[in-house]
Amino acid sequence: MKINGNYQKLEENYLFTEIALRTKKFCAANPDAPVIKLGIGDVTLPLPEIAADAIIKAFEELKHRETFRGYGPELGYGFTKAAVVDYYKNYGVELAMDEVTIGDGIGSDIANVTDLFEKGANTVLVPDPVYPLYKATSLMDGQKIVYLPCTAENSFTPAPPDCPSDMVYLCSPNNPTGATFDFEQLQQWVDYANDCSAVILYDNAYERFIEENDKPHSIFQIKGAETCAIEFGSLSKTAGFTCVRSGYTVVPMGLKANGISLNRMWQQRQTTKYNGAPYPQQRGLVAALSPEGMLQADKNIAEYKKNSALIANVLQEKGIFYSGGTNSPYIWFRCSNGMNSWAFFDFLLNEANVVGTPGVGFGACGENYFRLTTFNTYENTEEAMERIRLIIS
Ligand code: MLT
Repeated sequence: MKINGNYQKLEENYLFTEIALRTKKFCAANPDAPVIKLGIGDVTLPLPEIAADAIIKAFEELKHRETFRGYGPELGYGFTKAAVVDYYKNYGVELAMDEVTIGDGIGSDIANVTDLFEKGANTVLVPDPVYPLYKATSLMDGQKIVYLPCTAENSFTPAPPDCPSDMVYLCSPNNPTGATFDFEQLQQWVDYANDCSAVILYDNAYERFIEENDKPHSIFQIKGAETCAIEFGSLSKTAGFTCVRSGYTVVPMGLKANGISLNRMWQQRQTTKYNGAPYPQQRGLVAALSPEGMLQADKNIAEYKKNSALIANVLQEKGIFYSGGTNSPYIWFRCSNGMNSWAFFDFLLNEANVVGTPGVGFGACGENYFRLTTFNTYENTEEAMERIRLIIS
């Protein structure tokens, strides 16, 4: 047996696993500590009612002989793909049904799509800091990683480098910094990718949080993206589906490598290795993406934005540099008192009983930074920020 030795290159634990372990250890040692979690970006508000009702109705259908269903189409039901196609029309993007596949969220699809690319043979641009999955899967595949520093100096929205690459991960609005490319900046990336025949893997998990009009909601709003980009969308943060699991991936027909269609390859991959997203989840997705579903989802997002204001107010009052919160559910800030990220994690946990995410966990350039999520309840966020306010300077 020959194992994939690349796994030896991974950190001992994935970032959120490490945080969970450290939190568990702290809670075991301090059982009465009133711990508040602003670490992993997990939602706390219930599903939009219309989506929850659709899911319940779908399960109800499965109880009866007349409405029961077995396997669904591996790439998603037609009605689900049509809902995604319709949703994109809100942003002036016209997709063909066959360009959309339905899955169980961005995490799996963005990892699974790497099957399309030769292992150990590609140079991958990974922003630093960024959602740790991109680095981990590139390491697992033995790809050559080139890090793309995202710093306060470039407002965490770096321009394309001078050197070519084969694959580029972009996440905008960005996790963790909250920075969001404008149309012009994203156009530069699309031009870069087309020039060097790279593919952009575009993580679009947070688009629904965008408030500013000069920020694109989809890479397919950018001219030329249909020949260089794959976009991943999810209902997790948009409509609170973190436990339901539902998302979609768009692989355009125009995306080819040496004349071979990546859309076709993705279809081959999914029909072989995946049995399709569960029917009730797909019904939930359709309801959530409907105009009424989006109204309800946006109300939840507006609630989370109140938490952004609570966090931002304390950081402003203390004169601490931060970004995010406007177009994203994360606030990214410099650790106070000159602490490094993990020291600040321990400091907040011990002194305020608040769990956050150390910036260095998202990449070396995240050292001395820290991330707080706005997804907890208003009451918990308010309480957490009151405690943090007393101990940071
Ligand atoms: C995060 O906290 O960065 C993400 O929510 C985690 C995830 O989506 O897997």
